[in-house]
Amino acid sequence: MGALATASSSRADPGAAFSNPQIEARVDALLGQMTVEEKVGQLNQFAADTLTGPGQVVSDGDQKIRSGQVGSLFNAVAAKATNRYQKEAVEGSRLHIPILFGYDVIHGFRTLFPIPLGLSASWDPGLVERTARVAAQEASREGVRWTFSPMVDIARDPRWGRIAEGAGEDPYLGSEFARAYVRGYQGMRLGDPDSIIACAKHFVGYGAAEGGRDYNTAEISERTLRDVYLPPFHAAVDEGAGTLMSAFNASDGVPASANPFTLTQVLRDEWRFSGFVVSDWTAVREIMLHGIADDGRTAARKSFLAGVDMDMQSDLFLPNLPGLVRDGEVPADRLDESVRRVLRIKFALGLFDKPYVGTTEAVGVPPARRGVDLAREAAEESFVLLQNRDTGSGALLPLGAGRGRRIALIGPLADSGLDMMGSWTGAADPGDVVTLRTALSRRVASEGMVLSEARGTAIAGDSESGFAEALGAARSSDVVILALGESGHSSGEASSRSSLDLPGNQERLLEAVAATGKPIVLVLFSGRPLSIGWASRHVPAILEAWFPGQQAGPALVRVLFGDSSPSGRLTVSVPRSVGQVPIYYNSLNTGRPRSDPIGLGDKKADPYYVTGYIDEKNTPLYPFGYGLTYTTFSYSPVRVDLSTISARALKAGTAHLTVSADVRNTGAREGTETAQLYIRLRGTSVARPVRELKGFRRLRLAPGESRRVDFTLGREELSFWNIEMKDVVEPASLYVWVGPDCTQGSPAKVELGE
Ligand code: NOJ
Repeated sequence: MGALATASSSRADPGAAFSNPQIEARVDALLGQMTVEEKVGQLNQFAADTLTGPGQVVSDGDQKIRSGQVGSLFNAVAAKATNRYQKEAVEGSRLHIPILFGYDVIHGFRTLFPIPLGLSASWDPGLVERTARVAAQEASREGVRWTFSPMVDIARDPRWGRIAEGAGEDPYLGSEFARAYVRGYQGMRLGDPDSIIACAKHFVGYGAAEGGRDYNTAEISERTLRDVYLPPFHAAVDEGAGTLMSAFNASDGVPASANPFTLTQVLRDEWRFSGFVVSDWTAVREIMLHGIADDGRTAARKSFLAGVDMDMQSDLFLPNLPGLVRDGEVPADRLDESVRRVLRIKFALGLFDKPYVGTTEAVGVPPARRGVDLAREAAEESFVLLQNRDTGSGALLPLGAGRGRRIALIGPLADSGLDMMGSWTGAADPGDVVTLRTALSRRVASEGMVLSEARGTAIAGDSESGFAEALGAARSSDVVILALGESGHSSGEASSRSSLDLPGNQERLLEAVAATGKPIVLVLFSGRPLSIGWASRHVPAILEAWFPGQQAGPALVRVLFGDSSPSGRLTVSVPRSVGQVPIYYNSLNTGRPRSDPIGLGDKKADPYYVTGYIDEKNTPLYPFGYGLTYTTFSYSPVRVDLSTISARALKAGTAHLTVSADVRNTGAREGTETAQLYIRLRGTSVARPVRELKGFRRLRLAPGESRRVDFTLGREELSFWNIEMKDVVEPASLYVWVGPDCTQGSPAKVELGE
């Protein structure tokens, strides 16, 4: 459960999980025996076995391991492989230093959960923590003790394919999820054999790629960096994350993997991070292409001195750092410091004491029942019901006896297990995925209903040869389930799109099926919000399913038939059209606002000279925080315990506000509501967003049941970076809302005095 007042309070020692006097003493002893080459070896990482980026697998890997030149390997996935490499390091190298094995365990390892964007729609950090725990248990069994997750990049542009890998557009929510992933992966103690070290990535600003084009330049002011892009990283560090990954992109002309401001001033000096930073894949080498180094030696020097400790796949630290140290261009104690950061994590994980894992059962072991159940639960919680109109006898969903006996299942995503996995599939087996078709056929059979099926069209492509069959199936049914969307690999790395439309001719198929007049439930699979304006006007029920992972089908069937109620809420704004992006709820008001439900209703008298488009609204199709379920809720007016409070006392942490509201289930079914607390500050030294999320609470309520929610607002929630770039609480007018999404409710007002 998120939304606790302590959520973003800084820990006294964020490195406590991996640094203590015993570890430091062991590191000292080891450092004393190492040659410069062996030290640099610890800062070198290669991909073993498979590639997840451009280039090739290093050819003389074993030799390099034996000569102490490989501190970390990644993409070795099975115990057999990790043990084999480990043996080379532990038994074949002079100092017997174990290898730290990394892997992209992004939304599960063997048991595959929904993509991170889907998981975030649960607004349930506790759930995410449990999925990360299962992933850690499965990965660690294979010797993988380091995951390149969580991706905590804030994303405001759904063209960017990697929006699928994060928690959406909001820094507060993103921070809550960042913490949850870290807790789940790293467990109670790093030394426990099923703990794996987390890696918050991509530090920083990768999600702000211009035009949504992956790897592209970002332009981020320091204020926006501190307000929006840094907080989830800070939260991860505070929660004890052991590693960060430096990003590919440049911002303000400085490549993120050679940026001393973010990598040293912010991360080390301000946040006191004592883990290590690995570059992204060949990002050290790429600073030459960015244009701030003409040769590998300069690239290595700039990246390293800026604050990158480990070189992923560039192979530039290994050949250049020893010489740079000998020539005095890199201080020897700077080298020692980076090696210390890496070694302390290896010690904390217990790798020196227990370098191997049991080998007999490899990744082929099917997911345990507990994991499968959690995969289904997580998928159910990730679905967002975008609309559910009355088609004559009440809202179309849930399906059931009253809806007729004949169901048509149409669409290219109804039976595609591979696509349900989304991008980054860990060590999952597509054979474990249960599709919507499989689960629905079972359900329909058990209910004595009739199912007709047709693919209709491909995900991409323009052939209409399958339309006739699809229309036939639709016509002979009482209700149509249309499974449309993107392929699982249309999002993720290097998968940006310039359009947010349904790919291929799926929209035409949708229109043709709608023309039959049959009620349609559109189940949308996507790694990003899609612009579904036509569907929103013509399709009664729309369920955004993201990519739900291996239990896609069972979870969907349970929700469609009402065994469980949808409870997901959007963590990204769904644009009406691609021309609106970047689009995000926590924007600034401007001096010429158009009337906007998110703001305070202040608008220019003149309707013409206002910010906006002549051909589109400013508002999204579905706003941040939004989602329906099978019951309804009402909110009481929001209450605040004080009408004035001292900004100074807030800043000092000696005062806080309590905000409350009552939430009532006004419908006939039990359901889960996510009450959301938003604030706005006016009269401050810099303009603040029209609304900012500062708390949320998931509530399960029986019909007629009412519950009070209380939120605390204090220093953490009310401070911001002022005109002098200082973290302050200023005298101001504070508006607070408690409601079901970022557009609803009437605010209460509090004066923050001196
Ligand atoms: C590049 C990606 O940007 C990063 O997220 C990933 O962890 C690495 N490749 C390793 O696969």
